[in-house]
Amino acid sequence: MNGRERFLASCAGEAVDRPAVWLMRQAGRYLPEYRDIRASHGFWEMMTTPELAALVTLQPVRRFGMDAAILFSDILTVAAAMGADVRYEPGGPVVSPLVRDAEGISRLKAPDRDAFGFVSQAVRSVRASLGDETALIGFAGAPFTLAAYMACGGPSKSTFALKAMAHREPDVYRSLMNRVSDAAAELLSAQIEAGADAVQLFDTWSGQLGPDDYASLALPYTRRVIERLGVIDVPVIVYVRNAAGNLEQAASSGATIVAVDGSIRLTDARARLRKDLGLQGNFDPALLAASPSRIRADVRAAVDALRGTPYVVNVGEGLTPETPLEGVAAFVDAVKETSR
Ligand code: CP3
Repeated sequence: MNGRERFLASCAGEAVDRPAVWLMRQAGRYLPEYRDIRASHGFWEMMTTPELAALVTLQPVRRFGMDAAILFSDILTVAAAMGADVRYEPGGPVVSPLVRDAEGISRLKAPDRDAFGFVSQAVRSVRASLGDETALIGFAGAPFTLAAYMACGGPSKSTFALKAMAHREPDVYRSLMNRVSDAAAELLSAQIEAGADAVQLFDTWSGQLGPDDYASLALPYTRRVIERLGVIDVPVIVYVRNAAGNLEQAASSGATIVAVDGSIRLTDARARLRKDLGLQGNFDPALLAASPSRIRADVRAAVDALRGTPYVVNVGEGLTPETPLEGVAAFVDAVKETSR
């Protein structure tokens, strides 16, 4: 099996020699070859220049041989396409002007396929380099997370202003969420058309909602994005950070796979989900700083525990710049060894 076949079979719960592996934020600052390019190009420039985005997407796959590449981009491309000014500062991204009322919402643009032309081009370029050997994953921010950046600005991790809008002016909230959902769906459709094998929705901030608020404030919009993709045969991965409390609901979004973080054990998540639904996750990125033997033992235990179920090996949160290269290599190799 090649990586692409293995990834698609892992998603579908079909027989595999071993589960597929990739890592969230596998392209990034822990890689010296990324830092080399970053030294002479801005982050926004790298994302919006298809040749650079494609090059950086391929870097981790060339070095470590993951089964899937994830497009080098950022969830905030959607906010920018809707008219926001997005700046990447050392403390995290800053979005302005804040969208907090009906007037702000009326100024938002509804991006079409063309607004994401640079993304489609990058996807086509990566696809051409990977051929059919390695899967390619496209992505967008989930509506609640995107709207949190647009209403709250960042880099603070508070979603207060967005929740306050939901409680005080539910119609305004719905209108913002519908627009953000449709823009995210447009981006995913562009990536699928250009050749992505799967798409992932990143919901980094909906874990700040209790189960009842998740049901009314986040889930309907994640569902709306997936519905707008129409009937497609590409897997849709829904990643929810702090997933434990909202797991079954996230699974009811229309997702093919739920990606979880370390807030829940993989075996517990498995027991709570429908058998045909895939699971992805959820190693602590800090495990990659452990000894190769510890990494191997933990990987093997997870793969053994989930054998025969649809499972994709991944971390539970994105890799950070301090991630040791040896740890990433040991992790990917450990998954590969489980085929023996
Ligand atoms: O996974 C990958 O390798 C693909 C690329 C990718 C990036 N961001 C590149 C990036 C993906 C999938 C994302 C998703 C993303 N972006 C999320 C959801 C996942 C998560 O981590 O919760 C969020 C919340 C963002 C918004 C964002 N972009 C933040 C909070 C930051 C600052 C934190 C950081 O790591 O610097 C960014 C910047 C960013 N996005 C970088 C990269 C490689 C660093 C940019 C640089 O080189 O300076």
